[in-house]
Parts: sequence; structure tokens; C-alpha cells
Amino acid sequence: MNQILTKNKGEYYEFGHHLAHGANAFYTSNFDRALIVAIDGFGNEEGKVPTTFTIDEGLGNKIKRIQIFNPNQMPIGRIWNLSTKWIFGLSVGPPHGGQEGTVMAMAALGEPKYTELFKEFDKNHPELIRIAKISEKEKFNVAASLQEYSENLFFAHLKNFVNGLKHENICLSGGVTLNCVMIGKLKQRITRIKNIFCDPVPYDAGLALGSARYLWHHILGNKRISKTYLNMSPYLGRKYAKSEVLKSLSAFKDKVFVKNSKDDEVLEKIADQKIVAVFGGGSESGRRALGNRSILADPRNPTMKDTINQKVKHRAWYRPLAPSILEEEVPEWFEDTQLSPYMSIATKVKKEKQKLIPAVVHFDGTARLQSVNKNLSPWFYGFISKWKDISGIPILINTSFNDNEPIVETPLDAIKCFLKTQIDYLYFFDFGILVAKRS
Ligand SMILES: [Fe+2]
Repeated sequence: MNQILTKNKGEYYEFGHHLAHGANAFYTSNFDRALIVAIDGFGNEEGKVPTTFTIDEGLGNKIKRIQIFNPNQMPIGRIWNLSTKWIFGLSVGPPHGGQEGTVMAMAALGEPKYTELFKEFDKNHPELIRIAKISEKEKFNVAASLQEYSENLFFAHLKNFVNGLKHENICLSGGVTLNCVMIGKLKQRITRIKNIFCDPVPYDAGLALGSARYLWHHILGNKRISKTYLNMSPYLGRKYAKSEVLKSLSAFKDKVFVKNSKDDEVLEKIADQKIVAVFGGGSESGRRALGNRSILADPRNPTMKDTINQKVKHRAWYRPLAPSILEEEVPEWFEDTQLSPYMSIATKVKKEKQKLIPAVVHFDGTARLQSVNKNLSPWFYGFISKWKDISGIPILINTSFNDNEPIVETPLDAIKCFLKTQIDYLYFFDFGILVAKRS
């Protein structure tokens, strides 16, 4: 690195782990002033200070450090990691990835009867493991207790800063903020908060983006690029040309039919209860499929969740599917008007609306929504608008285009995943190419 720096007359900067998390959240947002929270399993700040939780303030193009907590004061990330492995026997890393989300889904089905035990996790975890083995119901109760313990600890620490520094806007980053249920309760639990912005890449993959932005804005003093949607776009992957799509398809001539098509025809298939995978534009950064590498289906169908979980995603029956909803429609369908462009926040679906979209309402009446913005996702916004004309519902089921593997990236990945699952159609929307299977 020194050789390259010398040759190019460059300079070397190294920023704290949590500072980089927080910077990505704040500089992606459109807030001029916000409290910035970074919370995760572990990281070092400048001077190798270990932490799991930091508080900063964002003001214009600058970030001001407020407080660093030591790992013992905020062990949520560590306890989720260890609980997922030890209590629930699930994966927390390669090759199957982090399955903390599965534990979060279980929590909605349980009663938080064991919250106290989590306060002394190091002493009590053998007891928690024993309880979780008794029955599925008890396993769900332990998950609900972990969820409640985490919410209580997080909100108790955060409240003082929000109120003391008088913030209405909050930016969140770090792996713990993938807990969309906890984030969904923020405004209820700390009533001063009016607007939430979640980092589209809150886990450690976002650190490179956050570091670059901190250097550009805070160190070099460049102005914010706010409200252009360029600052907000998660569609950072490369785009694929029509020739690349056709070339990939040509290798599977004996397995697929290919025809030219349009959105209207694809929407008819969805209305006909078919499962359609869509592919186009650059892939999404972050964990969630946001319309460019997505599996879409009809949320009105009460059996569609089980069909997709069993036939396509091969995952547990209690895992929810998420809705993508036109941004303007959020107040009509959800109790909270909070937007969620990166599918990071679970909030309550209005009681009277729940029966209209049974496939995307979780057991606790919430849904982890993607609010679809016209400027950020023009094709997807238009597609759901046309769906509303057909169905009267401005919402589609949107789950990531994959089956127990990373989300598909290339046209070839897409075709292979399509062929090995029971997805009915594959639609390359940039080029109006619809793919079906030869039976
Ligand atoms: Fe981190």
C-alpha cells in the first residue's frame, strides 16, 4: 500500500469501525441534522478502542462523536450471535450465512417469559438451552425473551441521547439494526423521534462505503449530495446488456421457452397466482431484494406464503414474506407513516387491511415493508402502479431471488435459480424477455 501511495502521492486514512457504519447511514440520508447510532457485534474505533455501540451527531456535512460504549455495556450483538448458535442451533456465518432473522421471526410466536435470564447470559445460557429444547413453543418463548431483552436495553440507552440532544431524526447502522422489529418500535418507545433512516448496508459490507463518504464529506469538506436519489440508491451493481441475457439463455434452449413480453402480461400471470422472478438494472447493495432481483407474487392469496416458503425458498413455515408498497400508499395501509425504502422496518399493518393481504402479514400483525419510491425505483414503481389498477391493491409480495444461497447477480445465476426451483416465470424487465420452463 505504501508503494502505491508514494507513487500516486496519496495519503492514507483509517477510520473507526462504528464511525464508518454511522457515516454511511447519515450521508445516505437526506437529514441535515440527526442523531447517528451504530450498534453491532464488535469493532474498534480510532486508537483501537473496542466498542459495540456509538452515538454521533450529524450536522450538515460533518459528524461529531458523542459517546463510545464498551462491549460490556451493550452486548446485544454478541448475545444474538451466541444465542443463534447455541440455543437455536442455527448458522451465524458462511456457508449458510447469519440466521438471526429466523430467531427474530420465531419471537413473534412466543411469550417473553425468560427476559430476566438474558440479563446474565454468560451464567444462564445453559438454562436457556435446556428450556428451548423442551418444545417448539418454549423455543419461541426464548426467542421472544431475547427480542424483549434487546429492545429494553437498546431503548434505555438511546433515550437519554435523543431527549438530551433534542433530536427528531435518527440514522441507524450496524448489524444489530437488521432487527427490523426493534427498529419498528423506536417511535413508540422514544416519542421524540419523528423520522428514522436505516443504512441500506448496515452490516460490515457498508464500511467501505461509509469510510469513503466520511473522507469525502467530513475530512475533505465536500457538500452533501442530498435529495437527488443518487445519494440514496441501493442499485449499485453493474447492469447487464441484452446480448448477455440472450447469450445466457441460449445455453438452456432445451429447458426454456423465451418470448417477448410486457409488464401487462406478467401482471396477468401474477393475478393468475403464478410466481414470477424479475431481473433488471444493477443489483441491490445490502441484504434485501428491492425489485431488481426479486421474486414477486400476489399478497391477497392466503396460501402463497406457504407455497413460496416450501416450493421456492425451502425455509421454515414461520418465516414471513415482505410487501413492497407504493410510497404514497403507506399511510393507507400501515399504522405508522414511516417510510422504509430498504425494507428495514417492520410496523403494524392496519387491522382492517390485514385480511386483504394475508400473505405478507406476520403473526404479530406487522410487515417488513419496502416503500417504493418513484425516483429511486422507476420500473418497480410503475409495475406496482399497474398492479394496483388490476387488483385494487398497491402491494406485491417481494422476496429475494435466491434459494438458500446469495441473491442472484448475473443473468446466468437467475436462469439457474429459476430452473432449480418452482418459480413459474422469469422476466428480464429491461428487455421485455419472458422465460418459461419446458415441461
Ligand atoms: Fe460492524
